[in-house]
Amino acid sequence: MSMRIGIHDLSLATAGYVLDLNDLAAATGVDPDKFRIGLGQDQMSVPGLDEDIVTMGAAAALPILERHGRDSIRTLMFATESGIDQSKSAAVFAHALLGLPDTCRAVELKQACYAATAAMQAALGIVARNPEETVLVIASDIARYEVDTAAEPTQGAGAVAFLIAADPALVEIEPIVGVHTADVSDFWRPNDSATAVVDGKLSIDAYLDGLTAAWDDFRARGGVDIAEIERFCHHQPFTRMAAKAHRRMAEHTGTELGVELYETSTVYNRRMGNSYTASLYAGLAALLDFDDDLAGRRIGFVSYGSGSVTEIFTGVVSAEYREFRRQAETAARLDGRVPVSVERYRALHSGGAVSSAADVEIPVETDGPFHFTGIRHRARQYRA
Ligand code: CAA
Repeated sequence: MSMRIGIHDLSLATAGYVLDLNDLAAATGVDPDKFRIGLGQDQMSVPGLDEDIVTMGAAAALPILERHGRDSIRTLMFATESGIDQSKSAAVFAHALLGLPDTCRAVELKQACYAATAAMQAALGIVARNPEETVLVIASDIARYEVDTAAEPTQGAGAVAFLIAADPALVEIEPIVGVHTADVSDFWRPNDSATAVVDGKLSIDAYLDGLTAAWDDFRARGGVDIAEIERFCHHQPFTRMAAKAHRRMAEHTGTELGVELYETSTVYNRRMGNSYTASLYAGLAALLDFDDDLAGRRIGFVSYGSGSVTEIFTGVVSAEYREFRRQAETAARLDGRVPVSVERYRALHSGGAVSSAADVEIPVETDGPFHFTGIRHRARQYRA
C-alpha cells in the first residue's frame, strides 16, 4: 500500500484593513449588484503600509507552528506573485520571523496564481522520499490593479499556509494530476510595475481553456471519472469565476454539477478579494470550515495561474478533519479588519510600493503579529 501524504494543517491570514465594495460602487458610480452578483464579491482586504506578503504569510503560518512545533520542518516554500525582492526569497524573511530551524531550506516560487500548487507538488515529493520530514508551504499575495479600471473591485490580499506531511489530518492528495501550460498574454506584471497588466476577457477564456485541457490530461493519465468527485474547489480571482469554471466543467464532461458542490468554497474569498496563489487554498479553508459532511469525500481542485499554467488534482478528506479546522481563528481575522473609506484605501494603494532608494521607517499601524518596518541600507526590515 502506498503512503498517504497530503495537507496536515492549514491556516489563513489576511490584511489589516477592509473596504466594503458597496462604498467603491458608490464612489465610482457603479450599481453595487455588479460587484456583489456580477463578480460575486462583497469586500476586499487592504494591506496597511506595515504589511506585505511576508507579514501576511508568516501570520498564516504561526498557528500551524504553535500546533505542530518547528522541528520536523526542513523545507519552507513561499509561493507568490507579489515578490518583494528580485533575488532574495520571501521564504528567507518568513523563516526568520517564524523562528524556523536553521537546518531548513527556503525558496520562493512564481507563476502568477498557480505557484502554490507547484510548491505543494514539490512538497509531496520531498515527503515521499523522507516521510519523517514536513514541508511548510506559504502562499501569500496582494492583488493590485490600477484604480478606476474594471479589475479594481477584484483586488484583495491574503495568505494561506499549509503543512505537507505523511498521514495527513486534513486532506490526502492523490498522485494523478492533469497539467497544461500555454503561453498567453492574459495577465502579467512587468518588473517595473506595482500593478498587474490584464486583458480581463482573455484571462477568463484562458482560464476556462486551461481547465478543459488539464481535465483531458487528467483523464488520459487515469484520473477518476467526474462522478467520483464530490466537491469542487476552483481558483477564485472573484467568486463568480468559480461559477464559470464549474459550468465549463459540467459542459466539458457532459454531466450535471450542482452549485452546492463548490459554493461553500467561496465564503472567505467573497470577503478577502483575490489573493492570487492563496485563493484556491482559501477556497479549501472555507470548504473544510463550513462543510460538515466532507469525511472520506473527494475534492477536485482547479489551479490556474495566468500566463498560463493549469493543474487539476484531487484529494480525499480525512475522517477526523473537523477536529483540526480553524473557523474561529479565521473569523476573528476577517472580522478584526478595520474598515477604511475609499479615500483611505486609495491612499494605501498608491503608498504600497516603497522605494528602496532611501532609508525609511514605517510606523506600526495594523495589529497582526508581524510588521514591515521600513528600508535600511536598501534592505527590507521586519519585526515580530
Ligand atoms: N447586476 C448584476 N450583474 C451585473 C450587473 C448588475 N447591475 N452589471 C454587470 N453585471 C455582470 C455582467 O453581466 C457580467 O456577468 P457575466 O460574467 O455573467 O457576463 C459581470 O457582472 C462582469 O461584468 P462585465 O462583463 O461588464 O465585466 P467587467 O468589464 O466589469 O470586467 C473582469 C470583469 C474582466 C473580471 C474584470 O474585473 C477584470 O479584468 N478582473 C481581473 C482579471 C481576472 O480576475 N481574471 C480572471 C481570470 S484570470 C485568473 O484567474 C488569474 C488571476 O487571479 C488574475
